[in-house]
Formats: sequence, structure tokens, C-alpha cells
Amino acid sequence: MDASPPPAGLPGARLFDVTGDVVIVTGGGNGIGAVYSRRLAEAGARIVVADIDRNAAEAVAGKVREAGGMALAVAVDIADESAATSMAAAAEAEFGRIDALVNNAGLMSELGRRAWHEIDVAEWDRVMAVNLRGLFLCCRAVYPYMRRQGRGKIVNISSGRVFEGTPYRLHYTTSKAGVVGFTRALAREVGGDNICVNAVAPGLTLSGAQATTSPPEYVLDYDRGRSLRRSQYPDDLVGAVVFLVSRASDFITGQTLNVDGGHAMH
Ligand SMILES: NC(=O)c1ccc[n+]([C@@H]2O[C@H](COP(=O)([O-])OP(=O)(O)OC[C@H]3O[C@@H](n4cnc5c(N)ncnc54)[C@H](O)[C@@H]3O)[C@@H](O)[C@H]2O)c1
Repeated sequence: MDASPPPAGLPGARLFDVTGDVVIVTGGGNGIGAVYSRRLAEAGARIVVADIDRNAAEAVAGKVREAGGMALAVAVDIADESAATSMAAAAEAEFGRIDALVNNAGLMSELGRRAWHEIDVAEWDRVMAVNLRGLFLCCRAVYPYMRRQGRGKIVNISSGRVFEGTPYRLHYTTSKAGVVGFTRALAREVGGDNICVNAVAPGLTLSGAQATTSPPEYVLDYDRGRSLRRSQYPDDLVGAVVFLVSRASDFITGQTLNVDGGHAMH
């Protein structure tokens, strides 16, 4: 146990300052991940846009650079061990460090909504491979760099479905529940390295693909159940992610922050 005096604390103005931080955003090429990438860059972070969709990653990194920010595009299938390792190595080679990893990539919008007993076994396995093994591999890939630096921030993207038991994508909901358990257990394992691991659970968010594939009546019904009575958009999630990347959350770990306009209460 550390018996040292309490840390001095940062000046208030620097608490949420992510200037110069190197942040990897997986799935950063499309949807909500593209918004995390752009907004974190606007806040001054240096961004690694990592996505299986190379063109999308390059387009987002290009937009960040055009706007005066710093960004690197990396093509990666996070379910692949060597690709995840190369992603972290590329980030370090370009920017010299890795301060944060936002584990946002996931299989969701391309999955049909169907009864649990109609889910194909191969699709079940691929969802677990991307949404859980990918999470594990990306964390493992950045760990040596964060440990060496003596600090790091990992933000895992779960889903409000976990708290609501939302049906018809059973593999997806199960994988996102796994993200919560993973977050808690990993937080305990890497706390001694001063690495914080937290999760964000978005509610139904009208991101690119989700906006076009969600039946309008489903969206309307969900929106009626929010305390804040409107639809949710990717920008609604940015504040929580910036907070969990920033120094303002330095003593918070193992937690899951629900961001859904007050739909599920957890
Ligand atoms: N949109 C919502 O309503 C909602 C709600 C809760 C949680 N989420 C979660 O938020 C995250 C982003 O959601 P979104 O709506 O932007 O989804 P999206 O499908 O639009 O984007 C997912 C991104 O991940 C990338 N990706 C997929 N497989 C990959 C792989 N193997 N390796 C690397 N990249 C890969 C895709 O290319 C894409 O850029 C996901 O984890 C999703 O599960 C979304």
C-alpha cells in the first residue's frame, strides 16, 4: 500500500486538457468513432484512427489534419493478434507514446435483429471475436507502452442494452455485457501500473449506420423512454469519453458510465 501524501492535484484549467495526448480510437473511421476522433483532435489530442475500413480511417485522419490537428490512419482487424500489435507499434512509431485507447470498434449495425435461436453459429463466433477478443488484443497491445509511461487510460465501449436486456441481437448484447466484466477485472489487474480502465454504455445512438438501419418506430419508442426527451447522437457521447481520457478521471477505474439521456438507470 502506498503511504505517500495525497497528490497535489492539477490546476482546474488543466483537468480536462488532453492537449498532446496520443489516443487510439478503434473503429474510428465511421459512425460514433469518427466523431470521437474528430472531437478529441479538436480538443488537442493526437489521434490514431484505427479501422478495418482503411479508406474510412484515412478519410477521417485526413480531415483532422486539414483542420490543423494531428492524426495517423491505421488499417487493422482488431480480432487479429498481430494486427492489433502492429497498430500499437505504429502509434508509438509515429507519436512516441500511447496515452489512451478508446475501444470503440464493434460489430453491431451489420447484424440483423432476429430471434436468439435463429442466430448463425459463425456469426455468433465473429461477434465474440471482434467485440471481446478484439478488446482483449487491443488492451494487451497497448499495455507495454502504458506500463512504461506509468499511466494510461482505456475506455471500452459497452451498450445500454446490457442494463435493459434488449432482445434480438443476443450475441451482441452478450458481448457488450462481457465488456463490463472485462472492464472491472482488468481495472484491478492494471491499477498498480496507474492505468485506468472504464466503460461507456451508449443508449440507442443515431450514428451513420444505426440511423439508417433502425426502424423509425423502434427509435421513437426508445426516445419516449428517455428522461431527456430526444434522440441521441454521437456528439452526446463525446463528453464522457473526453472525461475518461483526461486527468479529471484519474481516480476513477472499473466503472461503466451510462450515457443515454436517462433511459436505463444504473
Ligand atoms: N449506435 C448505437 O446505437 C450504439 C449503442 C450502443 C453501443 N454502440 C457501440 O458503439 C460503437 C460504435 O458504434 P457505431 O454505431 O458507430 O457503429 P458502426 O458500425 O457505425 O461503426 C463501427 C466501426 O468499427 C469498425 N470495425 C468493425 N469491425 C472491425 C474490426 N474487426 N476491426 C477494426 N474495426 C472494425 C467499422 O469499420 C466501423 O468503422 C460500437 O462498439 C457499438 O457497439 C453503439
